[in-house]
Amino acid sequence: MELLRKKIIQDGRVLEGNILKVDSFLNHQLDIELLNEIGKEFKKRFEGKEITKILTAEVSGIAIAAIAAQYFNVPVVFAKKSESKTLDNETYEGNVYSYTKGKQYRVRVAKRYISESDKILVIDDFLANGQAILGLKEIVDSANASLVGVGIVIEKGFQDGGNLLRKIGINIQSLAIVEKFQDGAVVFKY
Ligand code: G4P
Ligand code: NA
Ligand code: NA
Repeated sequence: MELLRKKIIQDGRVLEGNILKVDSFLNHQLDIELLNEIGKEFKKRFEGKEITKILTAEVSGIAIAAIAAQYFNVPVVFAKKSESKTLDNETYEGNVYSYTKGKQYRVRVAKRYISESDKILVIDDFLANGQAILGLKEIVDSANASLVGVGIVIEKGFQDGGNLLRKIGINIQSLAIVEKFQDGAVVFKY
């Protein structure tokens, strides 16, 4: 997605440890015009597929999923990462191991918000090691719902997630794929 690549080149910052900071438009301040275009692009990538619900994880996925949902006309459910007294006792859970944070955590969705008949599109901001997506897939699988595909804004193509998820047959659509970072600049695969 040309517009997104341009924005990343213009406003993204490459930090130590192969981290791409996109706080000015995706992870902190939100560029709603860009998010609208991202939503439309996801709609195009999954054209003709029946989708009844979009699933993401808090926090960064929510804005992206919510705006995309307007083009799919479906509800958004976001998995919660924190233990919560107000979350139903009846939840589907997924385990996520975060390499970045060096720890395991759980993502949860109340059972009432996903059913067997749901055809789910998962949306997230980054795909790095793929563990977050696998955790969300665990939730979809536990509910016996179907996973139609996964829409990612920025895939770090030099990390394992993309291969891992494509190998198990998931339809991953990444709008920008970073091949590498070179001298503080972003080199795209496409
Ligand atoms: P994984 O989710 O693909 O397994 O990767 P990893 O554990 O390495 O990522 C941990 C968190 O860091 C994720 O957000 C992921 O989206 C984010 N992340 C990974 N690489 C980058 C990067 O280069 N730039 C930025 N800005 N974020 C990156 P999260 O913990 O789920 O948090 P949240 O932001 O959604 O709350
Ligand atoms: Na995320
Ligand atoms: Na994030």
